[in-house]
Amino acid sequence: MFDLSLEMLRVVEDAAIASARTMGMGDPKLADQAAVESMRHCLDTVAIDGTIVIGEGERDEAPMLFIGEKVGAHSHNDPVTVDIAVDPLEGTNLCSTGGAGAITVLAASERGGLLHAPDCYMEKIVVGPAAKGAVDLEAPVKHNLKAIARRLQRGVDDLVVVVLDRPRHEKLIADIREAGARIRLISDGDLSAGIAAAVAGTGVHAVMGSGGAPEGVLTAAALRCLNGEILGRLVVKDDAQKERMQAMGISDVNRIYTTPELAPGQTLVFAACGVTDGNLLQGVRFTGDGVHTQSVVMTSTPARVRFIDTTRLENKPDVKVRFR
Ligand code: FBP
Repeated sequence: MFDLSLEMLRVVEDAAIASARTMGMGDPKLADQAAVESMRHCLDTVAIDGTIVIGEGERDEAPMLFIGEKVGAHSHNDPVTVDIAVDPLEGTNLCSTGGAGAITVLAASERGGLLHAPDCYMEKIVVGPAAKGAVDLEAPVKHNLKAIARRLQRGVDDLVVVVLDRPRHEKLIADIREAGARIRLISDGDLSAGIAAAVAGTGVHAVMGSGGAPEGVLTAAALRCLNGEILGRLVVKDDAQKERMQAMGISDVNRIYTTPELAPGQTLVFAACGVTDGNLLQGVRFTGDGVHTQSVVMTSTPARVRFIDTTRLENKPDVKVRFR
């Protein structure tokens, strides 16, 4: 597939800048809308024949970036055919309160390269390259933590596990505490935490617990590029949801998905841009000389991970460029 990295970078940067303008306004819907509109508009300037496979919901509930929507500059002579998964603003509440870790996210692949995950929860465990193959979603928490610690050549009490701060995780949190690991509770954003778990030096060693299934697929796309691992199992709320899943072609709702099953694409592109400051990426900075963004763009083939600082300079003669 034609290298879409720089095009996708532009899409997530634009969305980050648009949503960052709403930071702290206390309006998560407005923040999301700014990111969605920007992403939708920008995708239409890219020479792709794109189909949204993970987006803002079904056609009748989302005006833009709904599942099945066609995006891209169709007028272009030879557009690249891609499936696209988006989370235009991961951490809408974080952005609306100015909290840490809001990002804009997009993944693309050749057709069929991203699982069409239903909009439900997914039980997940995410680890970096060193602990790949050592964890098991069905194993006791203690067992997984010991395995991760062994692979990382440290004690369980040296580990930091990120968990979404939710009542449903009460037992998980108790189990992690009992095993002796440290915990970072987050109010939102298990996708960016998952990416951090696969990047050495971020101080995050694993992510555990249930979060959005679409976020699980996006995490898998990033982890394919970072050589990390996510294991995920859909959480079925009730019989009606089970039937909907089966109608979508998911015959075994209890299946544990591996990273390449969630994101099987041969040519994956993953891009994320910081909106508010986080573990991995700095948030958008507006200065008199321009707008500064920090992003990560990765491809699976060839295997490339780029951390990119961009300054969109103001058009004025005395403009200054600053390093960080
Ligand atoms: P939004 O981007 O929609 O605000 O979701 C953020 C998030 O925290 C995800 O990172 C996570 O997977 C999911 O919501 C958890 O859902 P819930 O808030 O229902 O526990």
